Amino acid sequence: MADATGRALAHDALATLKHLALIGAVDGQAKLSCADLADRLDTSTQTASRRLQQLEERDQIDREVVSDGQWVSITEAGVKRLRSEYDAYRRIFEAAATVELAGTVTSGMGEGRHYITLPGYMAQFTELLGYEPFPGTLNVDLDEESVRERARLSGIEPVEIEGWEDDERTYGPAYCYPATVVAGDESMDETHVIAPERTHHGEDQLEVIAPVKLRDELDLADDDEVIVRVAE
Ligand code: CDP
Repeated sequence: MADATGRALAHDALATLKHLALIGAVDGQAKLSCADLADRLDTSTQTASRRLQQLEERDQIDREVVSDGQWVSITEAGVKRLRSEYDAYRRIFEAAATVELAGTVTSGMGEGRHYITLPGYMAQFTELLGYEPFPGTLNVDLDEESVRERARLSGIEPVEIEGWEDDERTYGPAYCYPATVVAGDESMDETHVIAPERTHHGEDQLEVIAPVKLRDELDLADDDEVIVRVAE
């Protein structure tokens, strides 16, 4: 019973967030009164007011009450909640999606090797990806269209690598998307695109991990063109 109530509450909270987003509370503040909101959600004013209060308690919105209503903005946590719903719909409607990203091989600054070999990550790669990655990442400079296309990765279910910490610092969570790297007639599957859980929009480089050194396997040098095909 308690669970069912919890779920109903979560559902109401989501519906409220969605309305707030639609009236402009994602990128700024939206002005509304509880009576307006009640109208939109088809509830009583008290219920509308309680929903806003619950969202505020969960840190999903910020509010500023003024004499004739309130200014509401959705916080990062609120946007995250909406986005996970959006991602679920993407999976439903873009099932079996394939995202093809094109670009050229490039060299980084040797950071890939450092991160991939950290024990907190390596143990998870081995267990969750089923292979021990070659120590490094193949960096691909994406072409313009692929930089945009990259956003569609959110419609593909990633392998989730958890964040962890040692004595000195914390290491963030990462997503690994199953991928095939195609170079001319050759291709290599069983690779993964790896990205921090929080990827910035317009990120123009892709990093790929694999059980083998892709430069050797596919005979790749800097500036060679590759296609990275991501598919569930
Ligand atoms: O950051 P940087 O590109 O210098 O290299 P890294 O991530 O430390 O990886 C070492 C080298 O192996 C680089 O030349 C990568 O492009 C390459 N590599 C590869 O060919 N296949 C992989 N699966 C991983 C890295």
